[in-house]
Amino acid sequence: MSGREKIRLGVLASGRGSNLQAIIDASEAGTIDAVVAIVISDAADARALELAGRHGIDAAFVDPRLHATSEDFDVAVIDLLRKHEVELICLAGFMRVLSPHFIGEYRNRIMNIHPALLPAFPGLHAQRQALRYGAKLSGCTVHFVDEGVDTGPIIIQAVVPVLDEDTDESLSARILTYEHRIYSRAIQLFAEGRLEIRGRRVYCHGTDTLQQHETYAWGVTNP
Ligand code: GRF
Repeated sequence: MSGREKIRLGVLASGRGSNLQAIIDASEAGTIDAVVAIVISDAADARALELAGRHGIDAAFVDPRLHATSEDFDVAVIDLLRKHEVELICLAGFMRVLSPHFIGEYRNRIMNIHPALLPAFPGLHAQRQALRYGAKLSGCTVHFVDEGVDTGPIIIQAVVPVLDEDTDESLSARILTYEHRIYSRAIQLFAEGRLEIRGRRVYCHGTDTLQQHETYAWGVTNP
């Protein structure tokens, strides 16, 4: 995107890897100033690992069964991230809660994508939760990760409608297209050094109010 040096990402994923794929695509297309240095999974058969291999990216399976506690597991992951000089960690469908030790090591340098408008519908099956609740709008959220589950400061959200005829699958698919867009956008804002966390709020420097509105409200102003 610019002549600036690329930041090194570590992507943690447990499954399908469509967000990983979107990040790799953005990196290869040069629309983000970032490279994926390593992909780590807690599932040996994660498609995310296969995707990494296909793009010549280092990939590692860390077996939770070989680590007695979640902190031990996290220490093994941190070791890999350090060796790959990772500057920003992106959780993309990673099904484990990181230990306080991990969060402390990478404070304000871990992002997550969640398929709902937080703080509504945290945790698993967020799209189904929104449907069952009868929400008319849902969407997705990229946020920094803190010690809680889906509780960290919000960076970008995208809003999508929930339609009467929606099923889990149709709503998830509509949300997913925006996940792929806002995750790369958040990574780029981080790479440009434009994000500042003050308390619960994340401020984006270097935009006027109108552009900022567009940045934070994808789906409303960015069809
Ligand atoms: C996405 O819906 C993401 O929001 C959630 O887990 C899912 C991962 O999908 N955290 P994928 O593996 O990136 O395709």
